[in-house]
Amino acid sequence: SHRIMLGPLVAAIDQGTSSTRFLVFNSTTAELLSHHQVEIKQSFPKEGWVEEDPKEILQSVYECMERTCEKLTQLNIDISNIKAIGVTNQRETTLVWDKETGEPLYNAIVWLDLRTQSTVERLINKTPGRNKNHLKHKTGLPISTYFSAVKLRWLMDNVNEVHEAIVSHRAMFGTIDSWLIWCLTGGKSGGVHCTDVTNASRTMLFNIHTMDWDPELCKYFGIPMEILPRVRSSSEIYGLMKICSSRKSGALSGIPISGCLGDQSAALVGQMCFQDGQAKNTYGTGCFLLRNTGAKPVMSDHGLLTTVAYKLGRDKPACYALEGSVAIAGAVVRWLQDNLGIIGSSEELEKLAASVGTSYGCYFVPAFSGLYAPYWEPSARGIICGLTQFTNKSHLAFAALEAVCFQTREILDAMNQDSGIPLTQLQVDGGMTSNRLLMQLQADILCIPVVKPSMPETTALGAAMAAGAAEGVSVWSLSPEDLSEVTSEKFEPQINPEESEFRYARWKKAVQKSMNWET
Ligand code: G3P
Repeated sequence: SHRIMLGPLVAAIDQGTSSTRFLVFNSTTAELLSHHQVEIKQSFPKEGWVEEDPKEILQSVYECMERTCEKLTQLNIDISNIKAIGVTNQRETTLVWDKETGEPLYNAIVWLDLRTQSTVERLINKTPGRNKNHLKHKTGLPISTYFSAVKLRWLMDNVNEVHEAIVSHRAMFGTIDSWLIWCLTGGKSGGVHCTDVTNASRTMLFNIHTMDWDPELCKYFGIPMEILPRVRSSSEIYGLMKICSSRKSGALSGIPISGCLGDQSAALVGQMCFQDGQAKNTYGTGCFLLRNTGAKPVMSDHGLLTTVAYKLGRDKPACYALEGSVAIAGAVVRWLQDNLGIIGSSEELEKLAASVGTSYGCYFVPAFSGLYAPYWEPSARGIICGLTQFTNKSHLAFAALEAVCFQTREILDAMNQDSGIPLTQLQVDGGMTSNRLLMQLQADILCIPVVKPSMPETTALGAAMAAGAAEGVSVWSLSPEDLSEVTSEKFEPQINPEESEFRYARWKKAVQKSMNWET
């Protein structure tokens, strides 16, 4: 049993859009020993707005830590064996808090939020040639509602408390990683205000070549640089956990927080994609395909982002990635459940879709937050088309799953065109990969095999690895022999490529309609 093999333990906080998790791994085997998960509420105060409560997010972290510690104790595992904690998080989501009171000054504006659409359109219209890629040479990103800078600008312009805190030098800006690390290292009594290069690279204020905040970008968005967190590598000691002893998670006090990565970067690390050309696709709230491009940032000609993949140590080189971002993947499941009520749980979706095994010509483009890669069209809206008298909710369920697969196909195509070297199989992870029908469909629509590791928590594993590395605890030796022991499941394409191409062509037509439905 694992008790005999138990080496030092490493842990990760995984704060995603839909839920928070705390997970503890055995460093010698990368085995997941214990974890706990708590759902996060999202509020939609107006059409297109998406917010989350920063305090609820923080509470969920404490709760996950407490419950996980309880489970470890039940397993007779000593909590003091945890040597390092990593943080990984939903990226771009933006908040501002008061460093003297420790209070958030507004809800966190979630990455999916569309309230800045008109600002974004105005900014693009002002650029020479209405070029949404005007800032791409520095940031790797198109001007979009997706990234933090415009959200922060909105907070400054529309929330009086934020404005006042900035004027009186009490404001701190952060993405979720910064907020959590600041709170967990002491908050208003000495908390550390920092972020890592991967999270910083999603703000549009960060220069991915100099690897620092860019004064010109800050000026462009009118952001005072003093409110920005200090940018650190993804693997170094940021600070020590400081939790009051009255809390049940107090036992974690004193443990270094020594890893920090945006969740998509963490998954790349957790999937061991350390070589130029290696890629993974994570199916969470959204869906994100990242391909490691090594030490140099590669600019896409096909609508992909250039982003910092990781920098695993202060003196280590940065690695970059090309990223295809899809806004809505798992979110469509939640929508079918909460808004349409045609399923009671995400597990029911697979059954419902499998009961028909076809969308019967129905196509569903879930462009709820505009369309991200490769289109970057904030004004796109969701559309369901191809309905007949015969169509029922099972077909719609199937079309929703297919939508996730088609969106991934569009990104894979862009990726292949950019790099000239087609991927021959796709490594996947994330919550939705437990849906076997989805995985088979994905292989069918990509016409390449889809490979899923048996340990699905690769995002958390990546953050735990980064944290361990800074503390001299290597999680798993990374020799090729070990890698071959990673058990995985492979889904081979089963339909013929013509059938696949036919459906994909139809999908593309539907996408065009979602972009032009207003005109
Ligand atoms: O860019 C947003 C991304 O980091 C969110 O990930 O897993 O919450 O969909 P997820």
